[in-house]
Amino acid sequence: MKKILITGGAGFIGANTAALYLKRGEKVTIFDNLSRPGVKHNLKWLEGTYSSRQLRIKVGDVCHFDAVREVSRGQDVIFHLAGQTAVTTSIEDPRYDFETNALGTFNILEAVRLINPAAVILYTSTNKVYGAMGRVNAARRGKRYYSIESANIDESEPLDFYSPYGCSKGTGDQYMLDYARIYGLKTIVFRQSCIYGPHQFGMEDQGWVAHFVSQAIKGEPVTIFGTGKQVRDMLYIADLLAAFDGAVRRSRITAGQAYNIGGGVNNSMSLLELIDYVGELTGRVMRVKFLAARSGDQKVFIANIAKARRDFGWRPKVHVKEGVKSLYFWLRDNTSTL
Ligand SMILES: NC(=O)c1ccc[n+]([C@@H]2O[C@H](COP(=O)([O-])OP(=O)(O)OC[C@H]3O[C@@H](n4cnc5c(N)ncnc54)[C@H](O)[C@@H]3O)[C@@H](O)[C@H]2O)c1
Repeated sequence: MKKILITGGAGFIGANTAALYLKRGEKVTIFDNLSRPGVKHNLKWLEGTYSSRQLRIKVGDVCHFDAVREVSRGQDVIFHLAGQTAVTTSIEDPRYDFETNALGTFNILEAVRLINPAAVILYTSTNKVYGAMGRVNAARRGKRYYSIESANIDESEPLDFYSPYGCSKGTGDQYMLDYARIYGLKTIVFRQSCIYGPHQFGMEDQGWVAHFVSQAIKGEPVTIFGTGKQVRDMLYIADLLAAFDGAVRRSRITAGQAYNIGGGVNNSMSLLELIDYVGELTGRVMRVKFLAARSGDQKVFIANIAKARRDFGWRPKVHVKEGVKSLYFWLRDNTSTL
């Protein structure tokens, strides 16, 4: 039985990751300060589904080094997912953002370096480390921006941290890679595009796919910043979990490496296209309010995921329409009880 620690394990990606390993019979520890609204529902779901012999929940903060050191002891694999996730919050309170994302990640690395250097650590970074992608020429075509170059963002793209969130996540990203170089830790960095799926509590500021679908179900409007033609490659949670698992299994190759992880060109959608599709699912046209574009918002981001395919044989399997439909059914069936 493997011992798996998931920081931020009550959150969207964390709870799904916990379920994957609990289903397999591994021993899972969740370490989370429960700061994200709604995530207690995820803990209730996990506690109601899996045995307490397998699942341990520890409420704590990654900013507190002693607690992090304690919980890291003896773990085989650590998924470091705890984080402040919204660009908007990072702009309002950059110190909180820095402490959670940069210092919190540093604490994990120091704990592992000092007491558990054999552990594999997977860190969820973001495609925001590549910045606003200002050099990419995006033309408007119908309901989306279109660009050839941006369909090919690989890991050699220069880093260009933009926004306090970009800086704090990027700091964690670079510390992870450096602790592999300097101390030989088995760290793996995933630079994720937009991830969506069940157990996601979307808000206007983060988790926009779940937010759009949930607003549509409630018959409420959504706000779009900019034209709505901005394009993202979207990845369904089951595909992300397969990538987590593949990268950890191949840690001999993946340790010390960063990977772009997204839906790729076949699973890209603009916000307007998503709104149309959600309207089809609910049978109601969504109401939309437009506000000015946010500074640093990428017009088109589509990850080149060839490196992940090469190193651990991963590629997304769930088409974006199929994935959004699953999220829609989950939110429709659960919205009233959440
Ligand atoms: N969802 C995405 O599209 C996406 C994309 C790129 C990167 N990421 C990264 O993936 C990770 C998980 O994202 P998510 O979508 O599951 O978000 P989430 O908000 O659902 O989960 C994050 C969890 O971390 C917990 N947390 C926050 N601050 C903490 C602290 N100081 N100590 C302990 N726990 C704390 C929250 O309570 C929450 O349960 C984050 O680090 C995020 O930056 C997510």
